[in-house]
Amino acid sequence: MISNTTHVCPTEISIILNNRIRRWLQNPRKILGPYVKEGVDVLEVGCGPGFFTLDMAQMVGKTGQVVAVDLQEGMLAKVREKIRRSEAGQNIVLHKCEEDKIGVSGKFDFVFLFYVVHEVPDKGAFFRELVSVLKADGLIYVVEPPLHVSKKALEETIKIASDAGLTVVDRPRRFPDKAVLLKMA
Ligand SMILES: C[S@@+](CC[C@H](N)C(=O)[O-])C[C@H]1O[C@@H](n2cnc3c(N)ncnc32)[C@H](O)[C@@H]1O
Repeated sequence: MISNTTHVCPTEISIILNNRIRRWLQNPRKILGPYVKEGVDVLEVGCGPGFFTLDMAQMVGKTGQVVAVDLQEGMLAKVREKIRRSEAGQNIVLHKCEEDKIGVSGKFDFVFLFYVVHEVPDKGAFFRELVSVLKADGLIYVVEPPLHVSKKALEETIKIASDAGLTVVDRPRRFPDKAVLLKMA
């Protein structure tokens, strides 16, 4: 069940997240290139319709894996359809989570959270769970949208992440978005 405490991006408007103009403005290969290499194990929480997912699967190659998680079955169905139509994606595992429990096992090199953290009701529990599945030298990349998330709100998120055992490694410039790269403290 999805609570009413935070707004969750509905499946019906997923076209906004999945189109050519966005690909030009937010090129997945450019955004992910510094972090996602051959053999990397990626956890993408809030994958939505999979704008980044298939690119990441190609970037990690046969020796890596992408676990793509979303709260909404409708979003996962869109990723499933993309995989079906593509030659890539055999290394993608789809997982439907609860809003207060990601529920994946294993350890990951890279956790990707694009436009999702502001939709998560209990950010403390969310980051604590991510810490439990992050490799010791792993990275968590948080990108938040410019309009929904103020500078102050991002700082509050960073404080919550630090309380969960993370520290800031970098603040990648992603104007107009707000971005932060975290690792284990
Ligand atoms: C604004 S969309 C972004 C989707 C994708 N990251 C992108 O950039 O195209 C946010 C996504 O996060 C998902 N979401 C919201 N709350 C979540 C939660 N607590 N756990 C997992 N996914 C969540 C929503 O269902 C939605 O698909």
